[in-house]
Amino acid sequence: MQRIKTFLIAVALSAAAPAYAAGGHALTYKFTPDSNNVQSAQRGARNFMNYCSGCHSMKHLRYGRLANDLNIPEDLLKANLMFTSEKPGDHIISSMPAMEAAKWFGQPPPDLTVETRMRGADWVYNFLMTFYVDGAKPSGVNNLTLPGASMPHVLMDLQGVQVKVEEKAEGHGEAGHGGGHAGPKFELVQPGKLSPDEYKKFVADTVNFMHYAAEPGRNARISLGYKVMLFLFLFTILAYLMKKEWWKDVH
Ligand code: HEC
Repeated sequence: MQRIKTFLIAVALSAAAPAYAAGGHALTYKFTPDSNNVQSAQRGARNFMNYCSGCHSMKHLRYGRLANDLNIPEDLLKANLMFTSEKPGDHIISSMPAMEAAKWFGQPPPDLTVETRMRGADWVYNFLMTFYVDGAKPSGVNNLTLPGASMPHVLMDLQGVQVKVEEKAEGHGEAGHGGGHAGPKFELVQPGKLSPDEYKKFVADTVNFMHYAAEPGRNARISLGYKVMLFLFLFTILAYLMKKEWWKDVH
């Protein structure tokens, strides 16, 4: 009995763990990825290739698969998403040699194929939203979601420059209701090329694409699941009717 109890407690704890695993504080922004929004994932693929793939690979995903799943015609794929030397069967490899990157940034930029499954899509969304100016860092920026991150704010010209506004300790005022969570703690001191709403959309598209990449078969799996359920349901009716038919003379 004691063992079962311990086991159940362990299961409950491990289910709760991811919420605290990354950084320990609540995330500033809420975000739920949308796997059915193919257009958003297409835009996200373009964002990723333009702004991230210089440093980060997605080595478990092939260009051809991506184009196929996201309905991107091959000529557009080649013109917009791939370097000229690559073929659709190639995996998405970063153009930066990992050893050099480690020297430049202190850490090699990690492969991002399954990043949203490891950290959660909402975590990645928050990571891209919460870079702020920090003069103490060599790159000039820090990140609220991953404090001390060695990634530079590569989207700064899009988002603009934001500073972190310290929260009031007692949590009075509108932001502090309930005590725990105070809304966004950032102030834009220099606007970027995108408005705050456009930037949010840019980040959402990028994360939707990463969410797709982390499990390219997700939509197929879900739609197959529905078909199987429908089949089982219809088969149950059929089986019931057959049973009635077969047994009707026995009684
Ligand atoms: C100039 C190189 C560079 C570019 C461009 C870049 N990154 Fe990074 N990124 C890094 C480095 C270096 C790290 C490691 C940071 C650390 O752990 O301190 C990192 C870390 C990350 C992480 C956190 C990984 C983890 O779980 O710890 C995410 C998520 C991420 N990058 C997403 C992106 C996205 C999305 C883009 C494109 C918008 C992008 N990066 C563009 C260099 C880059």
